[in-house]
Amino acid sequence: MSLVDDIEGLKEAALAELKAAADLAGLEQAKGAWLGPHGKLTALMKQLGALPREERPAAGKTINQAKVELEAVLSERRRDLELKSALPAARTDFTLPGRRRPLGKLHPLTQVTEEIVRSFRKIGFAVADGPEVESEYYCFDALNTPEDHPARDTQDTFYLNGAGGQLLRTHTSSVQIRLMKKQAPPVRIVAPGRVYRRDTPDATHNPTFHQIEGLYVDREVTAGDLKGTVEYVFRQLLGEETRIRFRPHYFSYTEPSFEIDFSNTLTKRMGKEWLEIAGCGMVHPQVFENVGYDPEIWTGWAFGFGIERIAMIRYGIPDIRLFYENDARFLRQF
Ligand code: DAH
Repeated sequence: MSLVDDIEGLKEAALAELKAAADLAGLEQAKGAWLGPHGKLTALMKQLGALPREERPAAGKTINQAKVELEAVLSERRRDLELKSALPAARTDFTLPGRRRPLGKLHPLTQVTEEIVRSFRKIGFAVADGPEVESEYYCFDALNTPEDHPARDTQDTFYLNGAGGQLLRTHTSSVQIRLMKKQAPPVRIVAPGRVYRRDTPDATHNPTFHQIEGLYVDREVTAGDLKGTVEYVFRQLLGEETRIRFRPHYFSYTEPSFEIDFSNTLTKRMGKEWLEIAGCGMVHPQVFENVGYDPEIWTGWAFGFGIERIAMIRYGIPDIRLFYENDARFLRQF
């Protein structure tokens, strides 16, 4: 048997061993046994010198080919085994919940809004909404706010350029009209949302902020119902010991109209007995006419208040602009 025949046999044995290696350590061991400095193939190479001169080139070539082949199989096996060792021993269920507490939380204004809505839901109110880009009709006309009213002044309201008298709603009261126009009475809704006014930003003003509107329409609804409801909600929001008082006021869409003040430990901490918190009143008959409700049959009340203001009073936040800067150090506290 010539050396060349030996090579074929040895190569087959080496391939079998490389393929049989069950892990990376086994593979390295097989590599050493065949291709290492003391490996069997290396030993064969060393025997070349003993061959007759004319046989040497062919034998050398065959050994080299065997080496190249073995090295290719070796690196392929190494890749497979590395991949296998990187896989977890057991299957992973990616649908399981994480072990860490979820990162991030709701914005304080979202939290307060949800809390207000929850209080109203408990007493049977549904949630409504309307567009922020509104027409003069829904924002003013249908609410009985005349053309020459200061609220309609371009000093106070953002008007959009172009046709149609579009504007950014200055209050959520526009949702009252939208809702009554599409739904027959009785009505019991709250409408939280963003509003816009041409104010210069300072500690208590921002060109955009949030309000929540309430509307209750049914037969024989009274101002007593209004006061009871307002008292219930503000006690939930600001503490059970909270007292409420109504002061006469003017809004074009309610008659009579009131401003609502509250008093509790929070107002006292701010050095005040009473703090103004909301506007409200009995829905004006003209508003009912405007939406097609018969004012002889239906009565109702409405209110509106600022969400930022509630949150500021509750948490002692000194500057409204903190809500919009989204500094994580501020947000993390809620
Ligand atoms: N729209 C008023 C405002 O922005 C708040 C308000 C007052 C809403 C009386 C009402 C209401 O629904 O009846 O200041």
